[in-house]
Amino acid sequence: MKKCEHPVDKRKWYPSLIPGVVVLVSTCDSEGTPDITPKSWLQMASFEPLVLMFSGTKDNTTEKNIMENKCFCVNFLDPSNISKANRCIQWHGAERIEKSGFNIVKSNRVNAPLVSDCRAHLECNLYDTKQIGSGFIVFGEIVAASVWDKVLTAEEKDRYSLLDLIVYLEEGVFSKTDNSIYCDNRRDLS
Ligand SMILES: Cc1cc2nc3c(=O)[nH]c(=O)nc-3n(C[C@H](O)[C@H](O)[C@H](O)COP(=O)(O)O)c2cc1C
Repeated sequence: MKKCEHPVDKRKWYPSLIPGVVVLVSTCDSEGTPDITPKSWLQMASFEPLVLMFSGTKDNTTEKNIMENKCFCVNFLDPSNISKANRCIQWHGAERIEKSGFNIVKSNRVNAPLVSDCRAHLECNLYDTKQIGSGFIVFGEIVAASVWDKVLTAEEKDRYSLLDLIVYLEEGVFSKTDNSIYCDNRRDLS
């Protein structure tokens, strides 16, 4: 297999080598004003405690709200709401929620809302933060999770297509995860 050099600049990665699941991170400021923002640099960080991490930007509203309120929720997008999510960043705070058309409801365990249009949610308490170059990494301990009942009551082989997660590849380019499941020999969902 012959290899060619690829740029050491993520913005020039065509194709992208590190796709990321696209979510809306939802938060509230200390006065209860909600905010939602799309993020795709999201990753698990630890099993025990159960901690995820995402890379954000230090003085953006999401990160400020998390530092104030010490919690946030992660709402998983699907192809039906990805263009709404892309467009929503032209507005900010409560106006973003109103104009984008996303709906928020109270979460179960933390002081941040859930985006009810999404099919799955994680509720997190702030665990730690770390500045890495231009990235402000937020670690959140997952304290509650909820998934659309249609997904959880379906046969296992159909659950991914119903969950319909979507991943970010590069600016404006996404990939669906619904129907191309690869099972290794330890597990067969067919
Ligand atoms: C699909 C998509 C994925 C994004 N992923 C990230 C990300 O992983 N990290 C980040 O800091 N910004 C990301 N952004 C940009 C933020 O959403 C954007 O800067 C937003 O305006 C921040 O909003 P806030 O100030 O309310 O937090 C992404 C935007 C889009 C549309």
